Parts: sequence; C-alpha cells; structure tokens
Amino acid sequence: MTTLPDTFPPAARIQDLTSKIGQEVTLQGWLYNMRLKGKLAFLLVRDGSGICQCVLFQGDVPPEVFEKAKSLAQEAAIVVRGTVKADARAASGVELAVKDLVVVHQGPEYPIGPKEHGPDFLLSQRHLWLRSRKQAAIARVRHQVKRAICDFFDGEGFTQVDAPIFTPSACEGTTNLFELEYFEEGKAYLTQSGQLYMEAAAMALGKVYCLGPTFRAERSKTRRHLTEFWMVEPEIAYCDLNGVMDTAERFVSHVVNYVLKACPKEFQELERDTSKLEKIAAPFPRISYDEAAAILKRKNVPFVWGDDFGAPQETAVCSEFDQPVMVHRFPAEVKAFYMKRDPADERLALCVDVLAPEGYGEIIGGGQRADDLAYLEAQIAKHKLPKEAFEWYLDLRRYGSVPHGGFGLGIERTTSWLCGIEHVREAIAFPRMLYRIYP
Ligand code: 4AD
Ligand code: MG
Repeated sequence: MTTLPDTFPPAARIQDLTSKIGQEVTLQGWLYNMRLKGKLAFLLVRDGSGICQCVLFQGDVPPEVFEKAKSLAQEAAIVVRGTVKADARAASGVELAVKDLVVVHQGPEYPIGPKEHGPDFLLSQRHLWLRSRKQAAIARVRHQVKRAICDFFDGEGFTQVDAPIFTPSACEGTTNLFELEYFEEGKAYLTQSGQLYMEAAAMALGKVYCLGPTFRAERSKTRRHLTEFWMVEPEIAYCDLNGVMDTAERFVSHVVNYVLKACPKEFQELERDTSKLEKIAAPFPRISYDEAAAILKRKNVPFVWGDDFGAPQETAVCSEFDQPVMVHRFPAEVKAFYMKRDPADERLALCVDVLAPEGYGEIIGGGQRADDLAYLEAQIAKHKLPKEAFEWYLDLRRYGSVPHGGFGLGIERTTSWLCGIEHVREAIAFPRMLYRIYP
C-alpha cells in the first residue's frame, strides 16, 4: 500500500465513527460520488462498512490537495485524514472535516455511473456492481441470514456437518442433474441437496444441519431459480411431520427477528418497509394441500388436483396470509422418492412446503422420511434410480431405523424476501443462471 505520511492516525471504519466524534481519524476507501461548490468539495467516501461525507474546505488543506480532490474519478482509491463531526442530517450520523488526502489509485472513467443501467449490463459488471450501496446492503443482510441460521441451530443443540458436493446419485429427481466424469469411477453429479447425507449424520448425532451450495440444472428462467444456490438443511432423528413443522416455524421466526435486529441500516438503504416482517412470529398457519387447492379454486387460479404448485399457485396461496404458510401433505406422485406416505391417506406424502408472504412463495421444502426398507427399495425401483448407488442410504433403514425428518431452506429466496427484492439473482454475490456464468 502507498505509505501514508506519519501525520495520519490509525485507520477507522465508517461504521464506528459515531463513537469517535471530535477525534481525528484516517478513512481508507473509495470515492463513491463528489459534488463541488465554490471553495468546498463534498466527497462521498465508502469503505465497505458505510458511506461518509467528507468535506474539503479549500482554506483548510494545501492547494495541491484541493486540486487533486477535484480531479478524482468515481471509485478512485483514496485515504483521507480528518476530524469526525456529528451531523444529524447524514445517514451515518457523522461527517468528516478533511485535513489531508492521499490518492492510492486513480483509474479511468468508471463503467457504472449514477444513471440507470439495465439488468443485463449490471450482471455482466457484477464484480463492480457489488460496490453499489444497495448491493452491499443485500450482501450484509445475506451474511446476517447465515449467522441467524447457525445461531438458531447451534442454540438448539444441532451439530453442523458438511455434505459432499460430488455425489454418486440424485436426491431431487434426475431431470436437473449436473453430470461429470469422476476418474475411473464413472459418472458423478454435483449435489442437489445434502439431505441424504444429513439423514446418515442424524442417526449418528441426533440433530444435524448442513449449510452449503447446491446445484440444479434448471432450464427455467424465473425470478426464483438459480442453477447454483445455497441451502441450509437440518435433519432430526425421532421426529415426525409435526415436529418438522414446529422446528421450521420457530426457525423462520428466529431468522426474521435476528436479521431485523442486525440490519436496520441495510433495510433503510433498501427502502424496505419492514412492518410486515416485524409481525412474523410462530405459530404459522398450517393448511393441507387439499385446503390450498380449495383456495386456488376460489381464486380461479388454473390448477388440477394432483399437480405440484408452480409460482402462480404459490403466489395465490401465500398472498392469503400475512404469516408464512405451511402447506402439508402433497400428492406423493409429485414429490421426491424418499418421502414417507401418510398412513391416513396413502396417496399423500408427509411433506411440507413453507411459503413466504408478500408473494415470495416457497422458501422451505421438507418433511418426514420413509423409514421402511422395503418401501424405499420399491421407490428406488419405481423412480428408476440405480440401487447400488443407494445401498449406503438403505443401510440407514437396515440398522436402527427411526422416524426422522427435516427440511431445506434456500438462502437466496429467504434473503430476497427479507430485502424485498424482485429477483434471487441479487441475493448472491455471483449468481449462476441458465444464460449466465460470467463473471
Ligand atoms: O424443495 P427442495 O427441492 O427440497 C430439497 O432439496 C430437500 N432435499 C430439502 C430437505 O428436506 N433437506 O429445495 C428446498 C429449498 C426450496 O424451498 C427453495 O427455497 C430452495 O431450496 N431452492 C432454490 N433456490 C434457488 N434456486 C433454485 N433452483 C432452487 N431450488 C430450490
Ligand atoms: Mg420444493
């Protein structure tokens, strides 16, 4: 780094400046924007933790420093020294009266200006777009979502176990697998879900969860689908569908509350009306698939009994409630091979989807797992899955099989809902979608 003159005090971060009023500090950052007014230059400096207005008065700094400041390009890397002053009008609550400025790097004109840009352009500039206020706020919310997740499960006695990314078999159907050659072992796949491995880990540790990337070769271009997304998957031994739903509602309430507390500035930056989020609290309404079907019928949403829900059906159902709604017991035919049947109605699976309010749709899929060996063997055959690849999984039903269940929550869908953004692609730093692998 450019060596700073001895007169520069140790660096401070913008987020900590309110506790340093009256002190002289050094800020290390980038020029977000600048306004000139006679003998004053107003520099908006960002340092990753916030944005601070830094005011240069021509009479306060050497003439060459004022000239240097006037010629700065957007995103020039700069270090400023100045005194922190309280300023009630500023979002950060402070501003800096600048005494000195060092230019660390000055580049050509920055490609992303203050004018509006289309999503395609911004996505191809994603490596730079991340520096904008709104995108940085979303990144911080996502970070707190992940902290909230670990905080909840760690607090309830779960052990975090990491699931593999290379897998020998499918978990969520064979139509959206990313396939690759694995040395002499033949075909392998990128994981669609860590669930099957968490089932094994739950039999070892009782309550476990994994948090990591998962992959689906989805040929869909919706605002809810990525080809690479992050999922948290808890799995619990000695647990039935009701237990899964109890955990899911406590968990979602905790995540929402935690993030609301951690991110007031971010929600303000995103202009998110948080009043609806503040009302989120367990218990959540629980309705059966049949009850959801009746809502769709009443609302004239095209739908036939037996079908899975798509985005229009989810949106229609979840917009009926101001809490997340848990839709349970879908027809087994449209759900994954591992689900346990409902003993009260063999057509149905003991599963649950949690739909977020405000039209955000499914954020959780889960349920109780089939625990009977013969039934699972039949399901594997029916779904034309290679039995050899599942022998280890079947072992879990051979040795000490117990009722168990769990769920998966998508990090990007949850972050989008909390941030109130349109598309999941902004809820991850580098989204992977059907037509996008760059940058
Ligand atoms: O409903 P899904 O497919 O369930 C499972 O994968 C189970 N094995 C989870 C479990 O029981 N352990 O996916 C779970 C969640 C969805 O509700 C959604 O939030 C997210 O993962 N998700 C996606 N998010 C973004 N893009 C996609 N293509 C997604 N597919 C699923
Ligand atoms: Mg699902």
